[in-house]
Amino acid sequence: MKRVREARPPSDGAPHVPVLLAEVLTALDLPGRTLAVDGTFGAGGYTRAMLSVDPSVHVLAIDRDPGAIADGAPLVAAAQGRLTLVPGRFGTLDACVRNAGHPQADAVVLDIGVSSMQIDQAERGFSFRHDGPLDMRMERAGRSAADLVNEAEEGELADIIYHYGEERRSRAVARAIVEARRKGRIETTAALAEVVSSVVWADPASGIHPATRTFQGLRIAVNDELGELVQALHAAERILRPGGRLAVVTFHSLEDRIVKQFFSARSGRAAQGSRHLPSLETPAPRSFTAVTKGPVLPTDSETFANPRARSAKLRAVERTDAPAPAPLAVIETLAALPERTGRSARR
Ligand SMILES: C[S@@+](CC[C@H](N)C(=O)[O-])C[C@H]1O[C@@H](n2cnc3c(N)ncnc32)[C@H](O)[C@@H]1O
Repeated sequence: MKRVREARPPSDGAPHVPVLLAEVLTALDLPGRTLAVDGTFGAGGYTRAMLSVDPSVHVLAIDRDPGAIADGAPLVAAAQGRLTLVPGRFGTLDACVRNAGHPQADAVVLDIGVSSMQIDQAERGFSFRHDGPLDMRMERAGRSAADLVNEAEEGELADIIYHYGEERRSRAVARAIVEARRKGRIETTAALAEVVSSVVWADPASGIHPATRTFQGLRIAVNDELGELVQALHAAERILRPGGRLAVVTFHSLEDRIVKQFFSARSGRAAQGSRHLPSLETPAPRSFTAVTKGPVLPTDSETFANPRARSAKLRAVERTDAPAPAPLAVIETLAALPERTGRSARR
């Protein structure tokens, strides 16, 4: 799809502008439904909109970032019992729903990735544009990006940067990191960006900063973002009632590939024989049917108003009454580094 490059309008000061909001609401088809799960509460943009669709809707919202949970308290109060906000990971969203006393859910939405607040706050350490501690932990707990950069072996760093960052110069970046850390720990986002920029050159045509892909790779590894996505798709499959909808918004090809493969495998498109060549095998029962035909992209006017929507893709499916099949191994492979799956690195 052709993207139009124009001067940007000034930001309206909103902490996080929800992406593809109207399209998500259409895909979820909420009127008359009872329990909707927002697996990525963030600034509550989707949750607020879902609550306003129909007074019958109760939202169970989840976020792994304690700051997002704390900032959501006023919305919980304003929702007068219709919003339950829980700290946790969307990979266990089925357990979150059951723990809140609900046997099933009518809708699940996931808006994958980081929020504008996380990127814009220098102290969270997600961005090289604002110098801060090299952190990147959404949960503010566990292994930080600084721990990874300063302690991982060169080969592991190269794999992370290549597979999760899609950086072709991953080996050179990993080598430069290991050389730099011999002189002292790399503790800040600016220091890491400088190391990366010494071996990856800026591409004036794309305007992409040389450290962009390395930062993406580290962020995905620190937060196990792809593993969480794989678990969340299966968790949604287990908890949705027949007729319930699942909508997922992704921001890069690694995430979208996982969602696309899961949806096509589970909606039976990959497994079907043609009418000229009927399969002799009993087809696997479909746990989903497609709601969107291919990815739904933001309009040019949305991208103009909110540049962060640029790479967003929405896909949605509807749950059938078939039992949830065994986990889909192929998408677990897509989420893991090659050492863990036996795949050989292609670098
Ligand atoms: C793109 S923002 C969501 C924005 C939200 N839709 C809105 O309109 O305000 C993604 C949010 O998901 C959270 N998140 C990312 N991975 C998560 C996970 N595995 N479990 C729970 N929350 C997660 C992040 O902390 C962040 O707040």
